[in-house]
Amino acid sequence: MDVYIRPWVQFLKNPWRSSWAVLCIALVILGLTWNQSTPARLIGFAPSSSQEVDLRSCSALYLHGRPRKIVSSIKEFGGVGDGTTSNTGAFRKAVEQLSTYAADGGAQLNVPAGRWLTGSFNLTSNFTLFLEEGACILGSQDPQDWPLIEPLPSYGRGRERLGPRHISLIHGNGLTDVVITGNNGSIDGQGRIWWELWWNKTLNYTRGHLVEIMNSNNILISNLTFLNSPFWTIHPVYCSNVVIRNMTILAPLNSPNTDGIDPDSSTNVCIEDCYIKSGDDLVAIKSGWDHYGIKAARPSSNITIQRVTGTTPTCSGIGIGSEMSGGVSNILIRDIYVYNSSSALRLKSDRGRGGYITNVTMTNITMLHVKIPVRFSRGANDHPDQNFDPKALPRVSNVYISNLVGEGISRAPVLEGIEGTVYEDICIRNVSFRGVKMKEKWTCQFVKGEVFDALPSPCDELLSRNGSTSSWCGSQN
Ligand SMILES: *[C@@H]1O[C@H](CO)[C@@H](O)[C@H](O)[C@H]1NC(C)=O
Ligand SMILES: *[C@@H]1O[C@H](CO)[C@@H](O)[C@H](O)[C@H]1NC(C)=O
Ligand SMILES: *[C@@H]1O[C@H](CO)[C@@H](O)[C@H](O)[C@H]1NC(C)=O
Ligand SMILES: *[C@@H]1O[C@H](CO)[C@@H](O)[C@H](O)[C@H]1NC(C)=O
Ligand SMILES: *[C@@H]1O[C@H](CO)[C@@H](O)[C@H](O)[C@H]1NC(C)=O
Ligand SMILES: *[C@@H]1O[C@H](CO)[C@@H](O)[C@H](O)[C@H]1NC(C)=O
Ligand SMILES: *[C@@H]1O[C@H](CO)[C@@H](O)[C@H](O)[C@H]1NC(C)=O
Ligand SMILES: *[C@@H]1O[C@H](CO)[C@@H](O)[C@H](O)[C@H]1NC(C)=O
Ligand SMILES: *[C@@H]1O[C@H](CO)[C@@H](O)[C@H](O)[C@H]1NC(C)=O
Ligand SMILES: *[C@@H]1O[C@H](CO)[C@@H](O)[C@H](O)[C@H]1NC(C)=O
Ligand SMILES: *[C@@H]1O[C@H](CO)[C@@H](O)[C@H](O)[C@H]1NC(C)=O
Ligand SMILES: *[C@@H]1O[C@H](CO)[C@@H](O)[C@H](O)[C@H]1NC(C)=O
Repeated sequence: MDVYIRPWVQFLKNPWRSSWAVLCIALVILGLTWNQSTPARLIGFAPSSSQEVDLRSCSALYLHGRPRKIVSSIKEFGGVGDGTTSNTGAFRKAVEQLSTYAADGGAQLNVPAGRWLTGSFNLTSNFTLFLEEGACILGSQDPQDWPLIEPLPSYGRGRERLGPRHISLIHGNGLTDVVITGNNGSIDGQGRIWWELWWNKTLNYTRGHLVEIMNSNNILISNLTFLNSPFWTIHPVYCSNVVIRNMTILAPLNSPNTDGIDPDSSTNVCIEDCYIKSGDDLVAIKSGWDHYGIKAARPSSNITIQRVTGTTPTCSGIGIGSEMSGGVSNILIRDIYVYNSSSALRLKSDRGRGGYITNVTMTNITMLHVKIPVRFSRGANDHPDQNFDPKALPRVSNVYISNLVGEGISRAPVLEGIEGTVYEDICIRNVSFRGVKMKEKWTCQFVKGEVFDALPSPCDELLSRNGSTSSWCGSQN
């Protein structure tokens, strides 16, 4: 640092001492006039450390309060960590008693090393659930320990079955300042019984999530491993200021609908530094479906997803939809690595969804062994009921995709909009997919926009508004 500053300090002390200084002044004046550049940059001095740029974090969205006033252990509430004793009562009693501190400094519940079997329990406000090293919370194998709750208004029913839905293993509703963290502990949903119910078509009600937080604000989930969720693993819905970072999320690659993280009708969400290996999308942004989602009108916006790595053989790395009826906007997806997966980036929608997807930036995505690198798909006729409005079409616009590099890619991008609505202002720049066979062409329907520097070369539809340069597509980074 000193090295870079010194010439400028000397220069300020005695600007006329040398012709060197005069030259500098001339250069600075020229530089400032040309492009408002800083003097240091003009003469080629790097800012103190270019590393700082890479360490950009969005985690300040969670506002740390004061440390919790009370810290207790689940053992104080009769918990037994032997892997077989049920701790449902202990967890519920602990939260009930610790909730009395919510307005008085908050509380932390520690879970020591051990295997803590439990049914579903709720969290409270100003509360930290802390899993110590070697602590593992295990989901009960009795479906009755996952009682039924109301469906979400933006879904109108359970996502996979009509009527109510099973509650998540760890649940929160209407809370502020909740932290789930620890020193490399884990929460294992033991979801196999639920996957089997799904596979053998004997599931009566929609499966529960591993963690679902509803109608809440200021949430942090970090530094843990989540395993074997029955259904989507982490589901923040109708929430704001949610940070999910440094998480490992694992489920068998063939387990059904075990999405990693599904921010749903939520705003100001930060997902970073996560490793996810599962049977469905690593991260999927949602906002309700069809007439229920349109009526609820709860968008997902201001979402950053960065430094996520993972694999999902039949689904996508980062997806938006297919439930997007409340709208999805202002999304930044960057520095993602997806391998051995069906697709890396996917926008999903359907006739009847309505809603919008707009202002989406996806940049610096690396892919290895991915079938379809970028995919816009128009849905699988998946609707809550027959009352959806087939005229409710999604509006998709302002999607900037840049700096994608893939090896071992099977197919060119598949960009299929929906008849009657054109996906507009799609900008794709600097993408290279190696391994694609010569005869494979981009598939483009009902999409408009521009593509620059693409391998293999793009479809004609997207070049339709191409000039030699572009003010809007060329400038994104
Ligand atoms: C949580 O703590 C904050 C202050 O730290 C307080 O303003 C708020 O009312 C508390 N929340 C509840 C539900 O008691
Ligand atoms: C947990 O909260 C839900 C509401 O979101 C409620 O239906 C359920 O009864 C609560 N469970 C317990 C054990 O308090
Ligand atoms: C991530 O979490 C692990 C524990 O799961 C911890 O050992 C590690 O220090 C954390 N890394 C960061 C950068 O927080
Ligand atoms: C965290 O725990 C898992 C097992 O639960 C272990 O495989 C992993 O190495 C641990 N990571 C750290 C950083 O301690
Ligand atoms: C379906 O799977 C569940 C959970 O493993 C099992 O209890 C049930 O017997 C299975 N039913 C059929 C018809 O195979
Ligand atoms: C599903 O419903 C059937 C019939 O009422 C019942 O026998 C079965 O136990 C239920 N399954 C679950 C997982 O609750
Ligand atoms: C994760 O763990 C690391 C290492 O113990 C710690 O420095 C960091 O504060 C933790 N991060 C969060 C967000 O809890
Ligand atoms: C999204 O972020 C911007 C800029 O930080 C902020 O002005 C806006 O209020 C946020 N939107 C929502 C819905 O929170
Ligand atoms: C691109 O993303 C990778 C992670 O996949 C990261 O290591 C790299 O630093 C990123 N590059 C830039 C220029 O941010
Ligand atoms: C990806 O799949 C290939 C086989 O298709 C396998 O050899 C390789 O080990 C997998 N990579 C990882 C990191 O799992
Ligand atoms: C999309 O971005 C533009 C330009 O920044 C802004 O004017 C518009 O409000 C954004 N749209 C949404 C739905 O946030
Ligand atoms: C194109 O994208 C690759 C991969 O992210 C990146 O390394 C390269 O610098 C980009 N090129 C330009 C001209 O932006």
